[in-house]
Amino acid sequence: MCGIIGVTGRDGCSRILLEGLRSLEYRGYDSAGVAVQTADGLVVVRRPGKLAELEGVLAEREPFGRTGIGHTRWATHGPPTQQNAHPHVDGPERVAVIHNGIIENHEALRAELVARGVTFRSETDTEILAHLVSERIEAGDDLGQATAHVAGRLDGSYSFAVVSADRPDELAAVRHQSPLILGIGDGANFLASDIPALLPHTKVVMPLEDDDVAVLTPDKVTVTDVHGQVVTRPVRTIDWDPVRIQKGGYRHFMMKEIEEQPAAVAATMTGCLTDDGFTIRIPALDALGDRLAQLERLTFVACGTSWHAGLAGKFFIENLVGIPVDVDYASEFRYRQTQAGPGHLVVPITQSGETLDTMVALRQAKQGGSPIVSVVNVPESAADRESDAAIMTEAGPEIGVASTKAFTTQLVALYMLALDLAGRRGALDAAALRERVQPLRRIRYAMEGALRHADAVRDVAHRYADARDFLFLGRGVNYPIALEGALKLKEISYIHAEGYPAGEMKHGPIALIDGDMPVVVVATPGRVYDKVLANIQEVRSRAGKVIAVCAEGDERVAAQADEVLEVPRVDEDLSCLVNVVPLQLLAYFIAEKRGCDIDQPRNLAKSVTVE
Ligand code: AGP
Repeated sequence: MCGIIGVTGRDGCSRILLEGLRSLEYRGYDSAGVAVQTADGLVVVRRPGKLAELEGVLAEREPFGRTGIGHTRWATHGPPTQQNAHPHVDGPERVAVIHNGIIENHEALRAELVARGVTFRSETDTEILAHLVSERIEAGDDLGQATAHVAGRLDGSYSFAVVSADRPDELAAVRHQSPLILGIGDGANFLASDIPALLPHTKVVMPLEDDDVAVLTPDKVTVTDVHGQVVTRPVRTIDWDPVRIQKGGYRHFMMKEIEEQPAAVAATMTGCLTDDGFTIRIPALDALGDRLAQLERLTFVACGTSWHAGLAGKFFIENLVGIPVDVDYASEFRYRQTQAGPGHLVVPITQSGETLDTMVALRQAKQGGSPIVSVVNVPESAADRESDAAIMTEAGPEIGVASTKAFTTQLVALYMLALDLAGRRGALDAAALRERVQPLRRIRYAMEGALRHADAVRDVAHRYADARDFLFLGRGVNYPIALEGALKLKEISYIHAEGYPAGEMKHGPIALIDGDMPVVVVATPGRVYDKVLANIQEVRSRAGKVIAVCAEGDERVAAQADEVLEVPRVDEDLSCLVNVVPLQLLAYFIAEKRGCDIDQPRNLAKSVTVE
């Protein structure tokens, strides 16, 4: 998705916009551009390709301007060319607009404008906004009124910001389905698609809601609805440390975030352990009161890696709480008859808290009467604000597009959810709960142990970096880990990879096995360990190459596999938290060997806010 940044009231704002775009680049990096107010009118600079292209052009002059907007694009309409890069301008180039989302009725509006003599320069849906706002200003609207009026004509998802040469110290913006957050500064105000872009300037933020229209000047922020009625939005102070958003000496954010996992997992547990340290009590769930006791079923809704976490959560909840659990892709859930209602707990899982498919599913389930408990990483995100309760994963800002620490903190949050529900519903007694909480509190050390094998994983990765296809196999709680390992590999190395339940291989995928396709098998101790060993044999007897994730010193697996990725021995239920680490590292080192753009893989974006 695209990244949006705006500032009013800061000298050298072109540099501020560039810095903001650098922190937003993970949201989309097909092209970038800025529009800055100057005494001679709007200066608009746009470049296709990575942000460095724009940076190079802006470096040719001193930072300039006090008010402006910036954009980094994930192309939806029109290829990533200079002409299609944002900001887009009206005919006289006195209005500039940047946009995140998809305007579904853009063709009709474009035809209307062409009929009025407007000449278009780009293939984008966004350009119509510049012309429509310009027309409204010509008709006598101020910038806020023009923005509100245009927003009222749009269908689809759109958050856009606009500047006009007629109002050199004003920004106007509207939020609809795509995230937009205001930053309240001292003598300056800001707006951005996410919180990290604001933190270097202010920790005081005001998330906008759908159809909010904001007008910012250096010393004032006004928020109205699209009809001009003033609305009040809460202001929050965010305690994220801006330094944590930097790479901290790592080559890639992804490796930094892989190594942050043990601490992130521990931080996610903090605040959910009772004083004696032996029981889990998630404070956020208290908001649901006795509704939790009425639960008859639970559905996880999520996308991508978060959906994989939901599969592990199903394992936890069914085993520990004893209620049936569904795990739905959010993009499918929203088109099904899902029997939402008071007895059906819906749990959206989302790192960004803004994924549009997940948010639409959340709103649909809520409207149907289901209690909503989200597992979310970004505070003040839409999922955080719109749920009955939000279990916050404490991974901190996750910048790498490939999700790692958000995933393992989701696993911890879901395991804690299972323990808490089991306790509240009497499915587990105090002794049984205590027996499970202890290993959970120690899991961070096992994850650190897995990280200590990174060099061995790198050696294996370099031996298989040229493979064209991979198969990942796992059973039980490690089936989602096989899926996650495959997703990590494909999204950052562009190698085709599939994850399968190990027991399913003989029903088709075994036809793919040959000496050229490495098969990664999660083979750590558990109820189905012997079955997994048999699967390894099936692969080997067809000349397949087996890379096995196994417990340290496991001679049985080592004797049968071509390669081993060792991890410390832990309880089976928690093994998913440890076993995913070598698979994350395997993907990272293969992608690094192949010279891929690990933090910003092609075609991807960190937060998918379009349908
Ligand atoms: C994970 O590595 C991917 N980047 C992607 O699948 C991601 O998990 C998915 O888009 C969901 O994002 P969310 O957790 O922010 O909702």
